[in-house]
Amino acid sequence: MNLQSFVTSPSNIAFVKYWGKKDSQWQWPANPSLSMTLSNSKTETSAKIIDAKSDIIEFTNGLGKTDKGLKHLEWLRTQFPDFKNKKLHIKTHNTFPTACGIASSASGMSALTLAALSSWTQQFTLKDLAKIGLDQTKLAQLSRMGSGSAGRSLWGGYVAWEPSTNAHQQSIYQAYDEKHWSLSDLIMIVDSTEKKHLSSAAHKSAWSSPLFSVRLTNMDKKLQLAKEAIAEKSIEKLGEIIEQDALEMHSVMMTSSPSSNYFTEKTIEIISTIRALRNKGDLEAWFTIDAGPNVHVICESKNKVQILKSLNMYFPNLNILEDHVGQGPTLKQK
Ligand code: PMV
Repeated sequence: MNLQSFVTSPSNIAFVKYWGKKDSQWQWPANPSLSMTLSNSKTETSAKIIDAKSDIIEFTNGLGKTDKGLKHLEWLRTQFPDFKNKKLHIKTHNTFPTACGIASSASGMSALTLAALSSWTQQFTLKDLAKIGLDQTKLAQLSRMGSGSAGRSLWGGYVAWEPSTNAHQQSIYQAYDEKHWSLSDLIMIVDSTEKKHLSSAAHKSAWSSPLFSVRLTNMDKKLQLAKEAIAEKSIEKLGEIIEQDALEMHSVMMTSSPSSNYFTEKTIEIISTIRALRNKGDLEAWFTIDAGPNVHVICESKNKVQILKSLNMYFPNLNILEDHVGQGPTLKQK
């Protein structure tokens, strides 16, 4: 039998950022991280075994990079040699507007990992995959080898990734599920072109920043505080942590050699506006920024409509995508 698998896998936005690796061969992160799984920003991927000499990855909306995906399939085969000769035809696309400057590696790599293993093993539910040893924890560990942040996309809600003391004992787990607290992410699209710097190269240069060792001394504590803020559903506490952490990561990036600067004038203008409005008591929202210029505005979902109205008023020419905390991946037979 050769049935086709179909996966949807969500993207995630990090509240405590993963930046830098202790070991890049094993994707061993320098610090713990914590993210919120998104609902609307997803990758949909199908996989079917084909009679061919090499894998085919097809981006059905015409945009995307195949190299990283092909490399990840080859790496998966080193872990599962039985599938060495089972080449795949992968079809994939993102549900969020393409070329909008949102990194898709978390959703893309987790979707690819799941679709490939489902197709190779001919198991079409997460339960059935778990029965043969491929539970979410294992799938998360395999996904992070394609892109670190992809490991956190295997669950809904709020997901932590801790390096542990051994590259092979990293833990990725759901800290709180999506029902615990409804937060929204209003993604302000500052620049819709592709990233200038590839994150893999930038992760490496983190160690050259004089600020990086300082950052690392405080990350366990920061993860703990962020988890407490989510437990208490305190947006003020969480907001303060996520803004500080994003600015700290970008300070490391800017002071690394070679250095990367993802901020544009618009990014700074948005940051300043959010802070000014918040200080006036007019906006209960905080920002975070990944390896790109776009600003993720995090707020409680109950305040989303009002916050979106304010943001649209101050930035009428910007495209703002609405997203919120969501569930983990889905899998079925196509
Ligand atoms: O998964 P990567 O290698 O693309 O790195 C992700 C890095 C950040 O998005 C900046 C932070 C994070 O934790 O997701």
